[in-house]
Amino acid sequence: MPHSSKLRSVVRGVGAYLPEKILTNKELAELVNTSDEWIVQRTGIQERHIAAKDETTSMLGAHAARAALAEAELKAEDIDLIILATSTPDWTFPSTATQIQAELGVHQGVAFDLQAVCSGFVFALATADKFLRSGSHKRALVIGAETFSRIIDWTDRTTCVLFGDGAGAVVVEASDSTGDRHERGILTTHLRSDGRHRSKLHVDGGPSATQTVGHLRMEGKEVFRFAVGQVTDVVKDAFAATGLTADDLNWFVPHQANQRIIDMSAHKLGIAPEKVIATVHLHGNTSAASVPLALSVARQDGRIKNGDLVMLEAVGGGFTWGSALVRW
Ligand code: UT7
Repeated sequence: MPHSSKLRSVVRGVGAYLPEKILTNKELAELVNTSDEWIVQRTGIQERHIAAKDETTSMLGAHAARAALAEAELKAEDIDLIILATSTPDWTFPSTATQIQAELGVHQGVAFDLQAVCSGFVFALATADKFLRSGSHKRALVIGAETFSRIIDWTDRTTCVLFGDGAGAVVVEASDSTGDRHERGILTTHLRSDGRHRSKLHVDGGPSATQTVGHLRMEGKEVFRFAVGQVTDVVKDAFAATGLTADDLNWFVPHQANQRIIDMSAHKLGIAPEKVIATVHLHGNTSAASVPLALSVARQDGRIKNGDLVMLEAVGGGFTWGSALVRW
């Protein structure tokens, strides 16, 4: 449903953090039987960042959150809601969001983790939007942070070339609105999941099932087919709910898993190639961090301006998938 309440969630700042170490395709070709040519042709990925041994998801997330707060010109004490999307928490518990809360010096409000794998950021943004529009909370930090390098099987060439580590964050604030779709803020969000697809993209370990952390396993072709075939539905839902079209968009910021998926999805939706934000070549697939990382790059380089209409879209394990249409 399009949002009609008197409150709207307006994005005030975006920030990102990438670990220092860069792992190139050429370096990967020394670890497994692969090549720069294969990885670039099939995925568009050229390099990815890898967290240092002592660098955890909460540290990456806290860096990104500080950067988002700086752009918003806000302080820790202004935040009363922190939602962290991650599938690579520091510990089984407590939540990584509470670790970030402590690290930032936020002592009020509530912080919790949200698990929707690569769709996590869009799910977290939609959740924060519902909190803010209800009037229960005023300013949220929505963070996607991941250290997928810790759950990768580094001997499996079909997955280890695809993923990277990183974090991105936005500050979202409840603001008065007349409900006009030209005013700033999140206009509509659409989330979906279908648990029948677990085996196609999963981690083969967990505290309850195996008492281990496990490794990522993926049937790449099946995920590819689903991502291109099904996921465009939630984008169409966002257009239908608002009466806006692909032509009205300034930017399309999809989950960054594979350049071919990004291109095919945009084509299917009738979104012009020059409106597509792609950072997969530099970051690889950073799961829940991928959309806010791409947002941060496009905000920093001046592409996304206040007032622009931005469509966010993501798909991940479960399967989960979702969209958020934002007037920046
Ligand atoms: O965040 C959401 C999660 N993930 C995704 O969205 C990923 C979705 N899937 C994909 O992006 C693609 O399916 C992949 C990039 C994973 C694979 O691309 P593909 O075009 O579907 O390749 P394929 O799996 O059909 O493999 C083609 C060939 C195979 O060899 P044979 O059987 O043709 O001899 C693979 O064994 O490429 C081989 N291969 C590789 N060769 C070199 C698989 N991985 C590699 C590799 N280097 N890293």
